[in-house]
Amino acid sequence: CGIVGYVGDKKSIEVLVGGLRRLEYRGYDSAGIAVIDDETGALGVSKKSGKLVKLTDELAAHPLGDGSAGIGHTRWATHGGPTDVNAHPHLGDDGKLALIHNGIIENFSELKNELLAEGYGFASETDTEVAAALLGREYRATGDLRTAFQNVVSRLDGAFTLLALHSEEPGLVVGARRNSPLVIGIGEGENFLGSDVAAFVQYTRTAMAVGQDQIVAITPDSVTVTDFAGAPVEVETFEVEWDSAAADKGGWSSFMAKEVAEQPDAVANTLRGRIVDDAVVVPELAAFGDEALAGIRRIVIIACGTAAYAGMTAQYAIEKWARVPVTVELSHEFRYRDPVITDDTLVISISQSGETMDTLMAVKYAREAGARVISICNTQGATIPRESDAVVYTHAGPEVAVASTKAFVAQITALYLFGLHLARVRGSLSVEEQAEQVRELVAIPAKIATVLESSATVAQLAHWMADTRAVLFLGRHVGFPIAMEGALKLKELAYIHAEGFAAGELKHGPIALIEPGQPVFVVVPSPRGSATLHPKVVSNIQEIRARGARVIAIAEEGDAAVLPFADEVVRIPLAAPLFEPLLAVVPLQIFAMELSIAKGLDVDQPRNLAKSVTVE
Ligand code: G6P
Repeated sequence: CGIVGYVGDKKSIEVLVGGLRRLEYRGYDSAGIAVIDDETGALGVSKKSGKLVKLTDELAAHPLGDGSAGIGHTRWATHGGPTDVNAHPHLGDDGKLALIHNGIIENFSELKNELLAEGYGFASETDTEVAAALLGREYRATGDLRTAFQNVVSRLDGAFTLLALHSEEPGLVVGARRNSPLVIGIGEGENFLGSDVAAFVQYTRTAMAVGQDQIVAITPDSVTVTDFAGAPVEVETFEVEWDSAAADKGGWSSFMAKEVAEQPDAVANTLRGRIVDDAVVVPELAAFGDEALAGIRRIVIIACGTAAYAGMTAQYAIEKWARVPVTVELSHEFRYRDPVITDDTLVISISQSGETMDTLMAVKYAREAGARVISICNTQGATIPRESDAVVYTHAGPEVAVASTKAFVAQITALYLFGLHLARVRGSLSVEEQAEQVRELVAIPAKIATVLESSATVAQLAHWMADTRAVLFLGRHVGFPIAMEGALKLKELAYIHAEGFAAGELKHGPIALIEPGQPVFVVVPSPRGSATLHPKVVSNIQEIRARGARVIAIAEEGDAAVLPFADEVVRIPLAAPLFEPLLAVVPLQIFAMELSIAKGLDVDQPRNLAKSVTVE
């Protein structure tokens, strides 16, 4: 869910709705705001199920009295369906206080029973309403919002970010977090709260991240952070690197179209400052110490979704360059199977948002078990970096479209930088070998730009294939994770059943799926770089073609071997094998995006998904 809070001399509604618009990618089942009317002093609430536009329509039809303090929420439903009643904010204390929540309050039924026994009634099915009722009860007992809020959060189990305000303390918004994100934006005569900095970067780039189990209170000219017991804590400020325009659509038809086009920059920015004289030196890894890095015996990469495919892609490169065994695992599986972790195990987490709960929990688990954790993350002030020993930021800029594109190529880039840094420290690559990989890396942005320029074919193809019901993707070596990522994009964006397979696995099962007309994308390895694999994949193409498949080959410029067997060939520029994924994924992203458009779907906000999944 997305959360925003404001106190200051602006009218709140505009700030809140603007913040929600920038956070809508976090969830879009329903949206709502609560504002204290400056004139009447009353608390007004407006909330609607559906996307944010439903709320803005509602506000136009039934305006709320505006004022200098308010909170807003955009929801991804957990407890209770996406209805108007279940939308946030929830009210307590006879309509004088409003509360919003992200996460899950695990002991909510116990608290609800306690309140039911005292005669409270509930309008919604949500855990949030229970927290609101509890806050109302505590407010009546204490007459002070900060104390009441502190009493409430100390009683909650689970994961939550909560914000609240009370009409009797109009210039104050309080917030708390446990395992769920909350950042503060520091303004002049105004202050902000948000799930991430996108909520307020338009107004201020000075920010603070609220720590685990901390409470924050903002007024127009003060920010206080305490622990759950009320003891003050020091919080450092940081400057947000994103400029606010980066989180806007600009002239693009969708955030996704913009983000796909930004991929050359995402890679170039991630490389910047990390290459010194043809060698990779990632300054963020200095804290780790070369000796400690050289002593690593095993690497476990943990991530979910697209980030996991970035990990699977980089596995090939890191093992090859640094000669350390690498396994890649889904965070939610890793965490719950009692994995073997030793103190010479390095865990690398990958998360665009830095908030994915499954990954966060796996990171905590790994550290408790004695591993050291490096995180690859795209969002400053996020939770996972705070819980890690070191963080290597991808500099892809804000990614707003729910399905990940530019963050993926930036993640692979960051992991490759890590792999080369490790290889240097371990002495497993010669200086010349390192320089060769570096030259390949720095050439990638221009090559992605070339792929983008020639994307018309694949876009056209998508429009012709708008009524396709299933698509298969085949790849081998680093093309295998790319095949899976291509399939994931298609599921996410076009709701089409899609699977990615290792081409070598074809005859062990998937070939049974081939029937006349079945579209199959094949990521073809380079005939120059992968002389042994290329003919094998070409044979696979012949095998499926013989059974009627419609083959769309992603192949490098000049690869003529695919021509007799492929129905369509999408060309990518020449690159060394390990670098091809950064190019081959681009046509697959464009295919999925265009197919979604052809079906009239919302490419930025596909159904049922949320960009930051902050529940396990
Ligand atoms: C969600 C998103 C995916 C994303 C995954 C991991 O499932 O819908 O697009 O790949 O989370 O997100 P993260 O922020 O951890 O990279």
